[in-house]
Amino acid sequence: MALVLGIETSCDDTSVALVNDQFFVLDCLAASQDSVHAPFGGVVPEIASRSHTEALMPLIVKLLEKNNIHWPDITGIAVTNRPGLIGSLIVGLVTGKALGMAHNKPLIGVHHLEGHLVAPFLSDSTHQGANFLDKGFVALVVSGGHTQLYHVRGFADYVLLGETRDDAAGEAFDKFAKMLGLPYPGGVQVDRLAQRGQAQGGTFPRSLLGSESFDFSFSGLKSSAYRHLQNLKAPLTEAEQADLCASYQEAIVSVLSEKLKQALIKTGCAHFVVTGGVSANSGLRRACQSLAQQLGRELALPKPAYCTDNGAMIALAGLLRLQRGDRSGLDLAPVPRASL
Ligand code: KG4
Ligand code: ZN
Repeated sequence: MALVLGIETSCDDTSVALVNDQFFVLDCLAASQDSVHAPFGGVVPEIASRSHTEALMPLIVKLLEKNNIHWPDITGIAVTNRPGLIGSLIVGLVTGKALGMAHNKPLIGVHHLEGHLVAPFLSDSTHQGANFLDKGFVALVVSGGHTQLYHVRGFADYVLLGETRDDAAGEAFDKFAKMLGLPYPGGVQVDRLAQRGQAQGGTFPRSLLGSESFDFSFSGLKSSAYRHLQNLKAPLTEAEQADLCASYQEAIVSVLSEKLKQALIKTGCAHFVVTGGVSANSGLRRACQSLAQQLGRELALPKPAYCTDNGAMIALAGLLRLQRGDRSGLDLAPVPRASL
């Protein structure tokens, strides 16, 4: 049975996992860097790469020991090599290469977005993943760095339908959180407050960029929120903050679900996935579930732990690549910007 070690260090999460060819996650460990970046209100690249250097090898040793897995049990190593912060990518890459050489294991470089695309298909002891990877589906990837809508015709066969022209959806959440003075990372804080608030339609604009377009734009929403907050009397009560979060979240979610709806109608796909850090958002999950019902399509969302960056999604994407016969050499390079 194939068993792949996945290594993810493209941004600020150090994560490693073991995934087998049943798409089953034996275990996935992560060392969050949130607390070291929080004082700066965002990711500091040098601190991120240093933290990966400190955390990565001990995390791999812990993963193997905890699960009583030995190197002969492992069939390959998958590591994110694109896109991401260059220093962060290098740490994962040199570690993957060194382990591959030392233990004579095939190595495969993985595109981070391909990892997010397969995350809804991961199963573990508490969660059953989706099983329609070999069928065509629509995929919305929404994270801190990406907002992309794809028609996935099969694994490794991607047609980009549209993408953000400016900010990513997660960035839009994080920047709004920062404007409200909420702690970093802000997306989850906005989600938490929004659950207690009431969305007021019309507070914030929804940019659809025309009904024919599958592109997104969140910069107008961000500036409108900035102006709106400047005109309000500070400090805001928690109830006022909650209503603003609900309205802001609703503005993002309604645009995402409207574009998804159009993509499902256009492609005729019976299945769709929503993945990436923002797919953990409770409002987005609800909206997608009702879209699935409304259109009679099957939706798969990753388990919340596999929405944000994690080693399991990289292990699965790498496993599928290795099964196709793809291999990376020791010349595998980190690529900060790369499309899928
Ligand atoms: O996929 P991810 O971990 O990293 C990137 O590849 O970018 O996504 C992180 C993003 C951050 O912007 C974070 O604020 C957002 O996902 N996020 C959320 C929620 N949980 C994470 N945004 C809205 N609601 C959430 N519950
Ligand atoms: Zn990501």
